[in-house]
Amino acid sequence: MLSKKGVPPPSYRKTGTTIVGLIFQGSQVVYCIYSMARMESIWGKDCLEFKPERWLKDGQFVSENQFKYVVFNAGPRLCLGKKFAYMQMKMIAASILLRYEVKVVEGHKVDPKLTTTLYMKHGLLVTIKPRLVGVA
Ligand code: HEM
Repeated sequence: MLSKKGVPPPSYRKTGTTIVGLIFQGSQVVYCIYSMARMESIWGKDCLEFKPERWLKDGQFVSENQFKYVVFNAGPRLCLGKKFAYMQMKMIAASILLRYEVKVVEGHKVDPKLTTTLYMKHGLLVTIKPRLVGVA
């Protein structure tokens, strides 16, 4: 971000962030996380495909650059609970998948419901079968 005289304010000089074009000091910058998550220029040709494996590198989950995946915001106002939220998601997924086989009901339509957070319009109909291996 540059002032009207073209001088970057100190906070932006320090970060080393590359900004293409001129944004005058005091401007408001708005970005749309929903659109950014579906842009070919950011995610590549398969941007509209559901591909959880895009998050895996050598079988391990690798978090994307915070400025590319801005769901938790980025920079100095990054969500403080980001790591905690990931840990909770992993713990819940692991404890369910360890005990149950979960299958989405065939033909179930999965549509997004747009609100401040992204819900599934029709929920997610699944069948749950206990796994045979005994887990306490
Ligand atoms: C999937 C779960 C979560 C998502 C998507 C999320 C997303 C976000 C976003 C987008 C912001 C920036 C808001 C803004 O500045 O306009 C934020 C800030 C924040 N989040 Fe989260 N969050 C999640 C979970 C959590 C959890 C579990 C905690 C705490 C245990 C948490 C604590 C915070 C705090 C304290 C801030 C304010 C940071 C600051 O302004 O410096 N978040 N979060």
